[in-house]
Amino acid sequence: MDYKTIIFEKNGNYATIKLNRPDKLNALNFDLFAELDDAIKQIVFDRDIYALILTGMGDKAFAAGADIMELHKSDDISGKQFSEIGSKVMLRLEQLRIPVIAAINGFALGGGLELALSCHIRFASDKAKMGQPEVNLGIIPGYGATQRLPRLVGKSKAMELIISAKTIDAQTALSIGLVNEVFPHEQLMDKTIEFVNLVLSKGPLAVMAAVDCIDMSDKLSLVEGLAYESKVFGDVCGTEDFKEGTLAFLEKRPAIFIGK
Ligand code: COA
Repeated sequence: MDYKTIIFEKNGNYATIKLNRPDKLNALNFDLFAELDDAIKQIVFDRDIYALILTGMGDKAFAAGADIMELHKSDDISGKQFSEIGSKVMLRLEQLRIPVIAAINGFALGGGLELALSCHIRFASDKAKMGQPEVNLGIIPGYGATQRLPRLVGKSKAMELIISAKTIDAQTALSIGLVNEVFPHEQLMDKTIEFVNLVLSKGPLAVMAAVDCIDMSDKLSLVEGLAYESKVFGDVCGTEDFKEGTLAFLEKRPAIFIGK
């Protein structure tokens, strides 16, 4: 598939997806979702990709939401489909077993913030602005913010943001736990890559197992989650990387992980 609305790059053991409609502030249209979905499928089958960074092209936006030109045509039937199309792609992104990091380089509004919410970690530029402005348009968030935002920042803050449609800056987002860290705008990608390289230096199977268990934490009860963690813990104890990691510690040397 030839991509027009995203740029998909592999750099060593990580991939970067750049949303590529800068003249429309990277608004998420049907073509973009189809291309994003295709790239996610490629990542699932690529055994050499151990992390993914998602960001926006241009200096202004991560993504300014669902494409309002397309959205405007919706009625009660097609509106449900409109929501399901984006929501499914974001769920697939969240369910990737490699760490997925949003580098929020500007506006992340509506569906743009929801896309960032479906990533595992969010780093923001100090110029980023975030919000769920859907009620301004007479709709509600349709790509998961009513579900993921309360899980991340608590029900009350999510309620405040969604029903007021207010836009918050990066520092405010940091203070409520919406983003993990804020970096000076021009350093955002370098700092994000630095973090990715730190993660890539760890046992890759262990990192994927941790992503899996943490992702399951809001889908299982505590008792089920603990049982799930023990099972996955056992699985990683059966890997060569585990033997190497523990032996390297005992021999006081850096571990050399092979992903097996
Ligand atoms: N869907 C479609 N097009 C969008 C868009 C969206 N969500 N957000 C921005 N654009 C387009 C604008 O229509 C404009 O296109 P044009 O140059 O062809 O007219 C272009 O992107 C630049 O946006 P503009 O509004 O001129 O930039 P700005 O700096 O004045 O304002 C925002 C930036 C983000 C405040 C403003 O674009 C905005 O409010 N966007 C919509 C946000 C939103 O409601 N998202 C939720 C959608 S469900």
